[in-house]
Amino acid sequence: MNSLVIAIDGPAASGKGTLGRRIAATLGYAHLDTGGLYRAVALSTLRAGGDPGDAEAAAATARALSADAIGTLLADPGLRDDATGVGASKVAAVPAVRQALLEFQRAFAARPPGGAKGAVLDGRDIGTVICPDAPAKLFVTADVETRARRRFEELLGRGIPAIYAAVLEDMKDRDARDSQRAVAPLKPADDAFLLNTSALNANQAFDAAMTFIRSKPAFAGV
Ligand code: DC
Repeated sequence: MNSLVIAIDGPAASGKGTLGRRIAATLGYAHLDTGGLYRAVALSTLRAGGDPGDAEAAAATARALSADAIGTLLADPGLRDDATGVGASKVAAVPAVRQALLEFQRAFAARPPGGAKGAVLDGRDIGTVICPDAPAKLFVTADVETRARRRFEELLGRGIPAIYAAVLEDMKDRDARDSQRAVAPLKPADDAFLLNTSALNANQAFDAAMTFIRSKPAFAGV
């Protein structure tokens, strides 16, 4: 891998996406929210009238997606819909879907778009499966109540009616699906920096992450 890669993994609503975007903007690196890729497969399957729970249909969709088609889907407002998120967690459990998306992710990491010197990828298996040689790996987490509270407030902020207890149950279900699935389950890489953001605001989490990244020889002076 010839670019500088920062791998960020963690559960839903841990703040890894916000953190990843900010780190990438600060360093002038490209950023890839890899959850968006699983959402893109789910959305594309749904739009074609298929069922994201059908492993064959999801795998066929994933194999047929070109890099251009992925780019278009990542910008689609439907990507953030609840139905897309539920479908994404189903397609993400299908090994053939993960395999089909592997090359896209590795190519992004090795040759970041726009000629950027490095890339920040966030997801569930970046440090363990996609970029195991990344010179900086972070595992961002927060307790489930904190994450549910953040997601609840985000939904209300977007004008979407929500019930905290239901958001909390949903978060627990997603945690279980993400960490108990057979392929690429959510878990920290052995050499990941564990960043628990339960008691940190966004600035504090960012400062802790940058201190860790700058402590790595590959990123000295960034
Ligand atoms: O982070 P998100 O909600 O956008 O992720 C959507 C789904 O994709 C979620 O169920 C976890 C899964 N996912 C994954 O399996 N591997 C990744 N690298 C990123 C996301």
